[in-house]
Order: sequence, then C-alpha cells, then structure tokens
Amino acid sequence: MFTYKNCHFYRMKKIWVRWLCLLVGVAFLLAFIFKPKNEGKQYSPYFSLLNQELKSHGPGRPVIIIDLDRLDSNIAELKRHIHSPKHYRAVDKSLPSFPLLRYIMQQTATNRVMCFHQPFLNAWVRQRPDIDLLLGKPMPLNALATFYQNLPDSSAFNPGMQIQWLIDSKERLIQYQKFAQQNNLHLQINIEIDVGLHRGGLEQAEQLDELLNLISSDSKHLSFTGFMGYDAHVPEVFFPLGSPRGAYNAVINKYNEFVSYGKGKFPGLFSKQLTFNGAGSKTYQLYDTDTLLNDLSAGSGLLLPSDFDVATLKNHGPAIFIATPVLKKIKGTKIPFLEFLEPLLQWWNPNLQETYFMYGGRWKAKHYEPKGLRDNSLYGFSSNQQIVNGSTTTGLNIDDYIFLRPTQSEEVMMEFGNIYTIRNGKLAGTWKVFEQ
Ligand SMILES: Cc1ncc(COP(=O)(O)O)c(C=O)c1O
Repeated sequence: MFTYKNCHFYRMKKIWVRWLCLLVGVAFLLAFIFKPKNEGKQYSPYFSLLNQELKSHGPGRPVIIIDLDRLDSNIAELKRHIHSPKHYRAVDKSLPSFPLLRYIMQQTATNRVMCFHQPFLNAWVRQRPDIDLLLGKPMPLNALATFYQNLPDSSAFNPGMQIQWLIDSKERLIQYQKFAQQNNLHLQINIEIDVGLHRGGLEQAEQLDELLNLISSDSKHLSFTGFMGYDAHVPEVFFPLGSPRGAYNAVINKYNEFVSYGKGKFPGLFSKQLTFNGAGSKTYQLYDTDTLLNDLSAGSGLLLPSDFDVATLKNHGPAIFIATPVLKKIKGTKIPFLEFLEPLLQWWNPNLQETYFMYGGRWKAKHYEPKGLRDNSLYGFSSNQQIVNGSTTTGLNIDDYIFLRPTQSEEVMMEFGNIYTIRNGKLAGTWKVFEQ
C-alpha cells in the first residue's frame, strides 16, 4: 500500500537529512580542531613604558620612532665587522634623514655616503661639504646637469674630488665625457660590475677595455676611481641552488677577476688608492676576512625593519617602529552585511573579540605590540582609520598606542615628516626626514 513513509521522496529526504547532519557535525569538529588560539598578550615592559610616554608627551598622531639605544647597539655590531682598513659607507636612501645620518656617521667616524637620489646629492653639498659621495645607481645625464646647475657659488665641496659617478656602459660614459668637456669639468668615474645580482653593470672583465681606454685617454675630464659590485642576491640563495657562503665566494671571485684584469691591462689607473665598494646590510658581515673590497655599504640593518630579519643580522635588533593611537574600541567584529556572523566569529576566533580603529594605516608595516593584533582583510584597509582586531587579553584601550614594525625603512620613513627619537625609554627630540 502506498504511504508517505515508503515513498521515494520520503526515503531520499531521510538520507539527505542524515548527510546534512553529518556535514554540519564534521564542520563543527573541524572548526573546533582549527579554532585559532588566543594570541593576545599585553604590552611587554618596554612597549608599556613607551605607550605611557607617548600618551603623556606624544603628538597624538601616528609617528615613526627610532630608539637611539637600540640604534647604538646596531652601530656597535656594525663597527665590530667594518673597521680599518675597510671603510663604512652609509646608504642614504635607507636612512633618509640628515640628523639620523649625521648621528650614524659620527658614531662610525665616516664621511662616506652612497647616494641614490638626485635632490639628495645637492642637499649633501649644502649639509656636509666634507662629504665623500658614491652614486648607488647610474644617473641620467640630466641628473648630473641638474646637480651642477644647483651647486652653490662657493662651497668647500669639490665635485671633481668628492663625488664618484657610477657608470655601467660605454654609452653613458661618453655622455658624461661630453658634458665634462663642454663644461670644463672633471668627473670621477666608478664602474658598476655585475657580481651575480644581474641588475646591470659590466658582466665580463674584458668589457673594461673600452671604458678604461676612454678614461685614460681623457685624464683632463675623467678619472677612474674604482668599482661597485652589489651582492643582494647572496642571502637569498637556498638549497639545492647553493648557499650564501658559496654565493659570497663567487662574488669575491668575480670581483677579483675585474680587479686583476684592470690592474694587468691598466696598471697606471690602478696605482692609486681606489674605491672597491660592495655589500649591503644583509651581507656586510660576510666580508670580515676579505681583503679585496675596502668600502662596504649598509643602511637598513641599523634600524632593522622586518624585511631584514635574516640570519646574518641576528645580532641586530629592531630600532624603528610606527606608533599610532587607538581611536575607537568596539566589542566584537562587525562586518557590514555579515553582522549575523558576528557571534559565530567571536566564538570561533578569540582574536576577533575586539575591534579597534587606529589613527592612519595601510603602511608597509607589520603589527608588533601588543602581540596578537591583526588586520581584517574582510573589512578592508584604510590609510585614514584602519580596522585592527585583537582579543580582550591585549588590554588595549582608546588612546593607547599600537606599535608596528616597518617592513622597510626607506619609503615608510619618508611618509612621516618627523622622526621621534627615544633615549632611555623617553622621547628625546625630533629629526626631519629628507625632502623629496
Ligand atoms: C648599490 C647598493 N649598495 C648597497 C645597498 C644596501 O642598502 P641596505 O643596507 O639599506 O640594504 C643597496 C640597497 O639597495 C644598493 O642598491
């Protein structure tokens, strides 16, 4: 007899209900297994004091802070590795503030700077007429012309002796030579060599012939001052492609090829003291026993933004932070149109127990203190008031400061007009960043 209970539709429905229950059960089990841990922590003592200091004396807006005690310790580490007969060269783009650079140059007793931006060149002449400048990249001829147009009428700075222009091709060298001839100038030429990074520069030692021939045939306008071979690829290598030590050895061998070839073919050009520049923050420690390079560059590692958390910099500590006040604090995490999910989200993830809106945002930076704060990509990002989520364990309140670690120093610092310096946990003053 036909009844509803033995009809096909009833039987199917029963199977579906069972499957659905199973699915929901499995989903709950998985959600339970993968339930995020509460990562929230209160400020560590260092940041708790910094928070109090900024709340009492800060400007009430996002600031870049540099802790001078931590900077000093990074400088001391740098000096343990780079000392006579090697010279330290400060990288201006990575430390873009004259007072900051002046401080570092004083502590490291150097007047050598690697410069990366045309306006900085002229600014250096005004700021430090005793500077020794090496270009970090080959500049268009107009950058050179702009530099000369903007030189002050009288200055102790002697461009023919104190600046090394970087050249990576014969064409560029000819442009520079013509400019020097037309304007009755003398230009010092440093040649960029490719030691494995493949970011330009001469690849083979034999390519030196045409450049060095040109330079030695016009000593009135040109002189050869050395090589620059940057090795940023060295720390990036991984097994089975190689090891940083192996990559470093290859850099030295390549560098040596250029030096030996040049010395052999152009002994006159190599008879004076030359600048053999190389390295960067992530590699300068590798050059401890090397005797070929005499001029090592480093910048970012002195502040240690998070992109520089590498094994070679394990003795450096973060010295730069963004500190920004919490403007608003809201219970839970409400996403527009998904408000119904809120209780579920809160149950599932304790790190979504609270919502804060911080002053500013969208920086190239990572949350640092208090621990356990995170962005919310579902809600979105804002450079005006960015959402941040965290658990109640952080104890964070309105007007407290959130501390972030920039991923890099150069661009992030330039976004903030002033750097706030910290000494012994207290605000010590402000330093201006470079003007573009
Ligand atoms: C030519 C050159 N030398 C050295 C450096 C090292 O700078 P930092 O120590 O800030 O990484 C750089 C960085 O871009 C560079 O381009």
